[in-house]
Amino acid sequence: MTIDLQSVRKEFVARDGARTPAVEDVSLTLGEGEFVVIVGPSGCGKTTVLNMIAGLERPTAGAILADGRPVTGPGVDRGVMFQDYALFPWRTVAENVAFPLRFGPAGAGLSGAAIGDRVDATLTLVGLAAARDKYPHQLSGGMRQRVALARLLSYEPKVLLMDEPLAALDAQTRTILQDELLRIWGQDGPAASRRTVLFITHAIDEAVFLADRVVVMSSHPGRVREIVPVDLPRPRNDATRADPDFQRIAQHIWSLIKNEAYRAATS
Ligand SMILES: Nc1ncnc2c1ncn2[C@@H]1O[C@H](COP(=O)(O)OP(=O)(O)O)[C@@H](O)[C@H]1O
Ligand SMILES: [Mg+2]
Repeated sequence: MTIDLQSVRKEFVARDGARTPAVEDVSLTLGEGEFVVIVGPSGCGKTTVLNMIAGLERPTAGAILADGRPVTGPGVDRGVMFQDYALFPWRTVAENVAFPLRFGPAGAGLSGAAIGDRVDATLTLVGLAAARDKYPHQLSGGMRQRVALARLLSYEPKVLLMDEPLAALDAQTRTILQDELLRIWGQDGPAASRRTVLFITHAIDEAVFLADRVVVMSSHPGRVREIVPVDLPRPRNDATRADPDFQRIAQHIWSLIKNEAYRAATS
């Protein structure tokens, strides 16, 4: 699925009438099967952009199209995943993953057996087959985020919208899940089998490692500062992280956001 943002603006209006311009003149296309990552300082409108694509917020001006049709609300073609796992603590791993299929529109027409098969296949894909009957409190943070990813994948959305999904994890777990995410996305297979991904992160190295293109945003109001192509070969792995080109692209992105980051850290 292709997503098109055309001169999108978003202004939040408080009850007292005060206006916060959150996002200004954002134009961006997510190509079919493309992995696009947004980086930028806190408050630059990353989440607002993602929420508008998800249909959770409406743009104040401009247009958002999914395969050419205006986005008017949430849909099962666009799946969302956030930093907090938002799992049901009283349901097992398998029940959490099955939830959107059993109770949401994505599962309409699927038999109980078909849902069970889909859940098992998804749990295997994310490396959780052995944990299917555990409860969230019995899992590490990394495993909980795998559950959240499995739940997102189980209903096979065409676009994955991921808002800092790895931000709460320790560095090692995060590195492992970056590798896994690319595997699950299909970086080892043909490009035609990949889903469209929009991924938000604060971490520049994570952005460069994952992305086909990195969208660097600046704040007040949030705008696209630059779109940086990442022409590192796939599949990517530990060798990628040591590649001088990787370092060069990361340095360039840091140079774009450094001043704002310093200001944010000292005010
Ligand atoms: N529901 C809201 N009401 C009012 N202002 C909001 C709301 N959501 C976000 N904002 C403001 O919009 C700007 C962008 O926020 P956000 O998209 O969350 O940024 P980011 O995800 O990059 O940190 C910020 O100034 C934030 O305070
Ligand atoms: Mg955010």
